Amino acid sequence: MKQQKYRVLVVGMGKRGMHHAATFQANPRFEVVGICDIDSARLETAKAKLGNPQTGADAAALAAAVHPDVFCFCTLPHLRVPMIEVAVNSGAKLVAFEKPVALTSNEAFKMKALLDSASVKAVVSHQHRYGAHYRKVKEIAASGALGRIHTVYGTSTGWMTHMLSHLIDYARWYAGEPEAQWVMAQAAGRAKLADNHPSPDYLAGVVQFAGGIRGWFEAGAGAPDQPEVAKWWGKNCVGAQGTEGFAEVLTNGGWRAVSRRDGYQSGEGTMSYDADMPPYIQDMADWLDGKATHPCCFASAYKGFEIMAALQRSAAQGGQVALPLATGADEQALLKAALSDRTVLVSDPVNKKEYGMA
Ligand SMILES: NC(=O)c1ccc[n+]([C@@H]2O[C@H](COP(=O)([O-])OP(=O)(O)OC[C@H]3O[C@@H](n4cnc5c(N)ncnc54)[C@H](O)[C@@H]3O)[C@@H](O)[C@H]2O)c1
Repeated sequence: MKQQKYRVLVVGMGKRGMHHAATFQANPRFEVVGICDIDSARLETAKAKLGNPQTGADAAALAAAVHPDVFCFCTLPHLRVPMIEVAVNSGAKLVAFEKPVALTSNEAFKMKALLDSASVKAVVSHQHRYGAHYRKVKEIAASGALGRIHTVYGTSTGWMTHMLSHLIDYARWYAGEPEAQWVMAQAAGRAKLADNHPSPDYLAGVVQFAGGIRGWFEAGAGAPDQPEVAKWWGKNCVGAQGTEGFAEVLTNGGWRAVSRRDGYQSGEGTMSYDADMPPYIQDMADWLDGKATHPCCFASAYKGFEIMAALQRSAAQGGQVALPLATGADEQALLKAALSDRTVLVSDPVNKKEYGMA
């Protein structure tokens, strides 16, 4: 029996938009019927590579013309609520978009309300989950080899709005996706507030998860170097510790584990868009077909987003922040008002260049 081909519109033909569009087009369950960007040169280059879909600079107008089943947008983090509005109004069955979920909880609350009211499926691109080394750590954590998992953690030398969303998503996964109850955090450094992924230069915080599981997260200049990893953006470590061992993944440096049951183990692995995108996209077809819910579904990403927003509120306002969040806020404004002018202190000279100190 011939299976339905889902019609896809991709908005934002930059790095990630091209990854998404090319992977949709390569999957027999999807057809890219429209691509959108405000940069016409970018759009023309992309069109030739994607089988000449319809093009346009206005996402709403193009969506009205092509009636997508999947509305995918890969714009920078400042553009989220208007795209969710266009997606929902287009009648699409599934919205796929990039991390972070949003810059502020004010925005995320609106996005959640729009998606819930329209019963539209949504997926957020935390596609590292598909890496063989990330999955190996999940396999070990879920096998019981670590005993009772009491701690999960994630660190990245890259700054918050780029990386923290990834760290929280994978650490929650390793912990078995427990509910977060409260967080407390500190932040330092204003240089990256002006970045297109606006962030404090360094944020560190703790999360109390249900079941007594502690989460530790650090993103930015003060986060530890991972000297085993050469690529600076790959110096991320996410792991789980239990009563009988630990297991952790390095984004561009494989995985390692020590447990009472299995002793020392390690393996290769490096984050690869070419390897991670095809199964991430295939799982969207399966979800649309009514099979399993996508592992990167909005409901799960939203839980991680709440933690990320709460860490920022705590860093800006002090004290513990209870979860789930009861009201929205503008965490970006809170950080801008609260962060001191003191220059961030790095954990290692390897971080100086990216923070403008080299
Ligand atoms: N999941 C991952 O591993 C990963 C990796 C890198 C980036 N990202 C995320 O992907 C998102 C996009 O990042 P990128 O590096 O592809 O950015 P990019 O700057 O390369 O691409 C963004 C594109 O959006 C276009 N655009 C802007 N406004 C638009 C509008 N109103 N309508 C249509 N197009 C518009 C721009 O012209 C540009 O071509 C960000 O949220 C980023 O955090 C995720």
